[in-house]
Formats: sequence, structure tokens, C-alpha cells
Amino acid sequence: MDIAIIGSGYVGLVTGVCLAHIGHNVICVDNNEEKIKVLKAGGIPIYEPGLGELLEKYRKSGRITFSSSIAESSKKASVIFIAVGTPSKKNGDADLTYIENVTREIARNMDSYKLLVEKSTVPAQTGNRIERTVKLNLPNKFKNGNKITLEFDVASNPEFLREGSAIKDFMNPDRIVIGVESKRAERLLREIYKPLKAKMLVTNVATAEIIKHASNSFLATKISFINAVSQICERVGADVEQVAEGMGYDKRIGRAFLNAGVGYGGSCFPKDVDAFVRLAEKSGYDFKLLKSVREVNEEQKQSFIRLVEDKLWILKDKTIAVWGLAFKSNTDDMRSAASVTIIEALQNEGACIQAYDPQAVPNAKKMLKGIKFCSDPYAAAKGADCLLLLTEWEEFKAADWARVRDAMRQAVIFDGRNFLDMKALGDLGFEYYGIGRGHV
Ligand code: UDX
Ligand code: UDX
Repeated sequence: MDIAIIGSGYVGLVTGVCLAHIGHNVICVDNNEEKIKVLKAGGIPIYEPGLGELLEKYRKSGRITFSSSIAESSKKASVIFIAVGTPSKKNGDADLTYIENVTREIARNMDSYKLLVEKSTVPAQTGNRIERTVKLNLPNKFKNGNKITLEFDVASNPEFLREGSAIKDFMNPDRIVIGVESKRAERLLREIYKPLKAKMLVTNVATAEIIKHASNSFLATKISFINAVSQICERVGADVEQVAEGMGYDKRIGRAFLNAGVGYGGSCFPKDVDAFVRLAEKSGYDFKLLKSVREVNEEQKQSFIRLVEDKLWILKDKTIAVWGLAFKSNTDDMRSAASVTIIEALQNEGACIQAYDPQAVPNAKKMLKGIKFCSDPYAAAKGADCLLLLTEWEEFKAADWARVRDAMRQAVIFDGRNFLDMKALGDLGFEYYGIGRGHV
């Protein structure tokens, strides 16, 4: 099938390359001409494991092409996925300006049946708005008074990809959700995903939109729940890691997303929780539970900052090593990363930051100022009064910890992800503080 993907970011590119992998002809579109130039030349604008190899393969075979023109790309494709960003406005609403712009442009260039598929996370009812926007912007030859003479459909097909394992998630989905209002749209989407042989749930558009909101918000709730529990563990001498393990064996609960830490970040959870709270508000429901989820998440970062301040006493002119800047491991993405809030608070108290991240430094440089960025973890630890581990990169586990200890001025570690072996570090002479698991 010929498919166009509008928006070649984390979501759009992964979707594009994976659809090519399962046999479709894909054209990836972006209004950022520089990005398209890089992609055409065989470059890759983001870090996502496995993406580069697949892009290269299908770019060379011609199954995936790139364009900055919606007009050109939407002519050929009968199915158009919309994967542009939907950032938060100040009041928490999702900003749908990009979605509207893209829809207008698609409509103006329509000359045959098209299926427009929402891939970006959007509030419920967006499907209706897209439909209305298409009708308003179709060429006049397809309007006969109030009657529209060109057939088109709008569908919702939310993505559940996690950055860092997005290709794997796409190829082995727990489920595929398609929200449709016509048999034709259902048939087309079933056909597209047939090679994946995955569980498929077919709903109406509004239901599919809510499934996405509810899933992300529920996962964020799990994280805030365990983070709240970690606060109690800290106070009563319990170990949150074992609490999560003990809870996780219960199949009704499950161990996933019960890792306590410095709070969730990324381009989805913070924004999607905000948007769901707002959506509820507009529909007349006060979603208190989700408001608390958000508060617990903020509080988790603040309590980590207080812990560092408490142990280091005076921060002015102290050197703090930071390992890990990205919002999670295996990505270069810095959007809503906990590291930003934590680092800025420590800088405000006069601390000097030396940071290392395997992939996120170029993006971090755009967001954080006054930091010494280091090209390896040992350089970041050199002369430091403490070390903060903020992203759970596998390479940190394998570090030469005796070398780290000897490089530091004071061998103190704050493990914001409960990622390291507390006992082994204690034996090496480190003072170690985790989240809700005590210290040695
Ligand atoms: C994500 C998802 O689409 C959305 O579900 C999620 O909620 C947040 O945004 P992501 O791929 O992570 O998108 O974002 P980003 O990497 O910013 O990619 C969006 C792309 O769309 C960018 O490359 C941007 O240049 C492009 N874009 C934006 C357009 O092509 N046209 C526009 O009008 C606006
Ligand atoms: C999330 C959803 O998982 C995915 O289904 C959706 O499509 C997009 O949003 P993503 O944001 O890429 O994916 O990463 P995820 O692995 O969900 O992590 C989100 C944040 O939660 C990260 O900051 C991560 O460190 C944090 N997290 C995750 C925890 O703090 N504890 C956990 O147990 C799990």
C-alpha cells in the first residue's frame, strides 16, 4: 500500500520505517526542510536503537522516500498518517495547531479517496474536528452546496511505542487499536497491519482516542503510586524495590512500571496527563486522581533535590557529577527530563555541574547552560563532591567503580533510579543513597 506519514519525528520516522519493513511503500514528510535534506542524504536526525539500519535499507531499496511537500506526497498515498507534535499549551490543553495546518493542506490537495489517520496523541473529539476541517478546505469542485462529493475517512490509530525500544514495540505490539467510522477505513487499516498478526481492537474514533489517554495516564499513575510508596519506605525502613517485587508477582498488578525514581518525564506522560485532566475538566469531570499523579511526580524531583542538599550541606562551589541526562535510557530525548529540573535547582544554589550522557549531550546543550559536558563518565566524576545517577544507561552498571571512587573528592552517590548495587558500592567505600531503599 502507498502510505504517507506527515511529521518525521520520533513517532513518524519509526512508524514509517516499520511500515516499510512490513511491505508498504512509505513517504515520510516533514515541514522542516533541513530534516528532510538530512534524511534524503542517508542521515538520521534522532537516536533510536535499530532505526538507522532499517532506514538505510529501505531508503536504498526505494521503499521509503522523503519529502517536504504534503501536496506531492498526499497525491500518491491513499492512507495518510498524521504524526506531528501536539505540545502542551500553558493551560495544559494539547496545542493542535500543527494538526489543523496539516489537515488543511491535505484537504486542499485531495483529488481522490483518502484515509486520514491520527497517530499523534490527541484529545477525544479531534477526529470530528479533522473531519470538519477537511470538509471546509476541500477544493470547490468537491462541494455541492452542503454536500461533499469526495469520499474520505478519518481514523484514530494511537501509538504505544516507547522511545528506546520503539522498533521492537512496533513489530511486537500487545495490541493494535483502530478507531474507525466506516467499513472502508477498517478494511484499509486491517490490511496495513495484517503482516504483524497482532491482537486488534476495533472501536469508534472517540474510544480509540480515550484508550490512548487512559493507557498513558494509567502507566503514569503506576509510577506515581510507587514513588509515593517510596516516600513511606524511606521513613519506616522498608525497601521499595522489594515492595515492587512483592506486588508485581500478583498478576493483577504486574511488576512493570513500578520502578521508583526521580519521576517520569518524556514527550508523552507529562503532556498526556495534563491533556487528560483538561479534557476531563471540559467534559465536566474533576479528575482529582490524575491531578495527584502529577503532583506526586513533581514532588519526587523536589524530594531528590532536598536529599542532595541535605547531605552535601552547602552547595555553593561544590562540584556535582551527573550521569545520565535523557528522560530514560536508550534515547537522546531530553523533553521533560527530570535531569533538567534537578540540575537547574542545584545550579541555583551555586553548585558546579559536570555531566555525561552517552547520547543526549547535543540535545542537553540546547536546554542547559553553564554545565561542563564531559565525553566519558570518569571525566564527569573527576573531583566531584557527589555523583547523581539520573538515567539508567546499562553502561553505568559496568563502570569501574574503584576508578570512579578514586576520581571523586567525596565518594557519595545519589542513585535516582535505584539502578546500582547498593551493597557492592558500600563495600567499595561509597556512601550510597537510593530512592525509598535506604542508604549505606
Ligand atoms: C510526538 C507524537 O506525534 C505525539 O503523539 C506525542 O504526543 C508528542 O509528539 P514526536 O515524533 O515525538 O511526536 O515529536 P517530534 O519528534 O517533535 O516530531 C514531530 C515532527 O513533526 C517534527 O519533525 C516536525 O518538524 C514535524 N512537523 C511539525 C511537521 O512536519 N509539520 C508541522 O506542521 C509541524
Ligand atoms: C510512553 C509509553 O510507555 C508509550 O506506550 C507511549 O506510546 C509513549 O509514552 P515513553 O515516554 O517513550 O513511552 O517511555 P516510557 O518507557 O513509558 O517511560 C516514560 C517515563 O517514565 C520515563 O521518564 C521513565 O524513566 C519513567 N518510568 C518508567 C519510571 O520512572 N518508572 C517506571 O517504572 C517506568
